[in-house]
Amino acid sequence: MGMLEGKVAIITGAGGGLGREYALLFSREGAKVVVNDFGGSPDGRSEGSPAAVAVAKEIRSAGGEAIFNGADVGDAGQAQGLLRSALDAFGHVDILVNNAGILRDKSFVKTEEADWDAVVRVHLKGTYNVTRPVFAWMKDNGGGVIVNTTSASGLLGNFGQSSYAAAKAGIWGLSHVLAIEGAKFGIRVWTLAPTATTRLTQDLLPPELAAKWQPHRLAPAVLYMVSDASKPLTGKTLSLSGSKIQELKLVAGPGYWPGDETPTVQQIVDNFDKIFLPETGPIDFV
Ligand SMILES: NC(=O)c1ccc[n+]([C@@H]2O[C@H](COP(=O)([O-])OP(=O)(O)OC[C@H]3O[C@@H](n4cnc5c(N)ncnc54)[C@H](O)[C@@H]3O)[C@@H](O)[C@H]2O)c1
Repeated sequence: MGMLEGKVAIITGAGGGLGREYALLFSREGAKVVVNDFGGSPDGRSEGSPAAVAVAKEIRSAGGEAIFNGADVGDAGQAQGLLRSALDAFGHVDILVNNAGILRDKSFVKTEEADWDAVVRVHLKGTYNVTRPVFAWMKDNGGGVIVNTTSASGLLGNFGQSSYAAAKAGIWGLSHVLAIEGAKFGIRVWTLAPTATTRLTQDLLPPELAAKWQPHRLAPAVLYMVSDASKPLTGKTLSLSGSKIQELKLVAGPGYWPGDETPTVQQIVDNFDKIFLPETGPIDFV
């Protein structure tokens, strides 16, 4: 028995890169998969989905069950159709991985409104568009698991990625709310910050890491997230860089509280060590 026997998974942006690896592994573990991808270039400027059609075919020729769905997740109407496709083909949905994404890297001042809107539309609005109907269905039908894709850029910042980081940080915030709202309905929600060599990153990663961080290395950790192996965890964020798996969390300083007084600037200066955390240096993803 596979770990996902009898389950139905919707994976957005599964025509290539990370999404394709999740689709292939989930299918090998017994899941029926809705392989979504709008296709097009990494910056989202053109369309066409042959790669996702090929992923669905690859799954079927290996004896699995999969359908192709070409919805643009940024379009609310098309995104609604994803739930319908899953229900029409397989009767239910147990897993959703919001993975579709584009990049338009430019320094902040060079980021035109059209670039900002396009990136936020696919990542943040796309996650909302696809998740809302699926979440509603799961709420009424015994629960499920949702994995939303954020990024280290969104949580820590990265030069030239203002639109992307804003969208990805928004997804992180949304995921916490979904985990809270989904808890009593059996809906578990994860956030994933991946780093892998795909068409989005092949020119950005140092060559020695690019060779190691192949997307198939991340897929088993995502399988863990969506399978019963991770029950009852929810509301957590995992960073996956190649084979390295680590939880990311907000931390709070010890805190300074001047009793019933309103704190003064001088009190803040005098209690610096209680308010701020020591500098720890960058997170070691390698
Ligand atoms: N590769 C990394 O190191 C890395 C780092 C941080 C975050 N991510 C995130 O991981 C996810 C997967 O990225 P990837 O690296 O595999 O890149 P990728 O380009 O290989 O995959 C993204 C897929 O999303 C599809 N897509 C784009 N717009 C779409 C839309 N409107 N509707 C449906 N599908 C659409 C693309 O056609 C593409 O196949 C993205 O959300 C990305 O931001 C990746």
